[in-house]
Amino acid sequence: MARDFSTVGVVGLGTMGAGIVEVFARNGIDVVAVEISEPALERGRATLAGSTDRAVAKGKLAAADRDALHERVHFAVGLDALHSVDLVIEAVPEHLDLKQRIFAELDRVCRPETILATNTSSLSVTEISVATSRPNQVIGIHFFNPAPVMKLVEVVRTVVTSPEVVADVEALCARLGKVDVTINDRAGFIANALLFGYLNHAVGMFEAHYATREDIDAAMKLGCGLPMGPLALMDLIGLDTAYEILDTMYRRGGRDRRHAPVPLLKQMVTAGLLGRKSGRGFYTYERPGSPVVVPDEATPPATDGGLADGARAIAKVGVVGSGTMATGIIEVFAKAGYEVVSVTRGMEKSAKVCEAVKTSLNKGVVRGKLTEADRDGALGRISWSATLDHLADVDLVVEAVVEELSVKKALFASLDEICKPGVVLATTTSSLPVIDVAMATHRPADVVGLHFFNPAPVMPLVEVVRTIRTSPEATATARAVCATLGKTGVVCGDRSGFIVNALLFPYLNDAVKMLEASYSTADDIDHAMKLGCGYPMGPFELLDVVGLDVSLAIQRELYLELREPGFAPAPLLEHLVTAGYLGRKTRRGFRDHSHR
Ligand SMILES: NC(=O)c1ccc[n+]([C@@H]2O[C@H](COP(=O)([O-])OP(=O)(O)OC[C@H]3O[C@@H](n4cnc5c(N)ncnc54)[C@H](O)[C@@H]3O)[C@@H](O)[C@H]2O)c1
Repeated sequence: MARDFSTVGVVGLGTMGAGIVEVFARNGIDVVAVEISEPALERGRATLAGSTDRAVAKGKLAAADRDALHERVHFAVGLDALHSVDLVIEAVPEHLDLKQRIFAELDRVCRPETILATNTSSLSVTEISVATSRPNQVIGIHFFNPAPVMKLVEVVRTVVTSPEVVADVEALCARLGKVDVTINDRAGFIANALLFGYLNHAVGMFEAHYATREDIDAAMKLGCGLPMGPLALMDLIGLDTAYEILDTMYRRGGRDRRHAPVPLLKQMVTAGLLGRKSGRGFYTYERPGSPVVVPDEATPPATDGGLADGARAIAKVGVVGSGTMATGIIEVFAKAGYEVVSVTRGMEKSAKVCEAVKTSLNKGVVRGKLTEADRDGALGRISWSATLDHLADVDLVVEAVVEELSVKKALFASLDEICKPGVVLATTTSSLPVIDVAMATHRPADVVGLHFFNPAPVMPLVEVVRTIRTSPEATATARAVCATLGKTGVVCGDRSGFIVNALLFPYLNDAVKMLEASYSTADDIDHAMKLGCGYPMGPFELLDVVGLDVSLAIQRELYLELREPGFAPAPLLEHLVTAGYLGRKTRRGFRDHSHR
């Protein structure tokens, strides 16, 4: 029979502890909430009150239920108050010696049958457990931030945790309305092992001035549908906590350089910039603990819809190419009111592209997103051509031809001869160095990357790639154009994968390596990322959609350019591609799609 948890203790009421108290109290369980000092206890009480008041204000909790919830929580300083609870969850800072001391003390204070759990993100639960005389009753219960919202709990069993304790804790998670994945004791478990390399990489991009904080965050939100960008997430986690997690993962997880905390992190922690909880981290907040970002000296100036930073006026746009991307881009520009010259390699291809644009615009009309007049207006603005000479008077050219450097270079050399001076020449390449294309012209200052996402009419993000030769005016023009298309243009340097692919694909590759190591299943890994981190799709779902061959090609390029050993493609990914299991398009990838 499952154990009855009627009273639980929570030690440490910081970012996580206060949320964990709320989870239990909301579910009718009495909580003894413990802190190290009266002021810390007050802060914990205030965090809990703030959170439940917000829930009431949003209509998610009745005022009477909030009051009942608070009545179930008993606050105390010191561990002695935990003498008769059934379970303790520890959520103090991520230091092994501190946790071991607390567990030794809990072992002394608590009844012999009490389960002792840690919320550690990266430390060894086993090492914590041996500080007690009951390692078989020690377990990891890893909640996600914010605990009341995120559905996932990682239940971490060590080699000595008793199966009954695991079963009891699993049943408790279900009672709390959480989804649990039960796993062995390994640094970072599932979610953090996949998340923190990505977060650290994003901090590295910011530190290297590769892109601004706003652009890095916007790229991942808009390009991947994540609930928040990596730097905003670091602020939510707390930079001190994030630093400790990375540091432990680096030491425990095979000294993967990607987990060695970026130096900037340590500097920010030392300077007291801990994220939301201290009111300042990568962003500045209204006050400590507030989620509201306020402008600071790094906030980009608002442009009020005018042309910023010497951006050039654009009225007529040439689009070269006849594939999926070119077709989408033609539609996007025409809908936004630009005159568009489409150039393909022959009138037959032009006719096909024209048909595809018409079909897509008609769909917009059927779905009520576009009026018939808008559709006709957009079509009327497009002229169809099979010769580059028609680009002599355009203000911007967007090239979206085949992903081959020699082809693109030849095209840019021709554009250089045909186009008038001052034109911005853009390539949509997703993997070739933009500078190679730029140097095929005599005007590299006017060449940028405009990396649209597929499908272009839908995806709200465009990466604006500036090379070391691109002029600020050309970059500003490209960015301003994105805004007129109703898209967010994020500016970044000319490196493999730009922002989105460079941050996304190593994470996907890591998930494959985790599966390959048999640490967990594809289903549990997908669950962990969706329910623990709010990802719209799990890594294996996404890999099957993107295509394993495409993913492998991108990962190979990242590896070749950055020479980062951790970026080496997962052998399992290579084998699946060799076997022809490419994802949904071949009806089989990580999963079998033949019956769907
Ligand atoms: N922040 C996250 O997003 C997150 C997510 C999941 C798990 N975790 C893990 O949860 C744990 C806590 O992290 P956090 O971010 O909430 O830290 P935090 O710094 O926000 O809070 C820690 C709290 O512990 C208290 N404390 C310190 N020593 C204590 C003692 N001896 N007795 C009682 N209380 C004590 C502190 O006063 C503080 O309020 C860490 O192990 C962390 O890895 C954090």
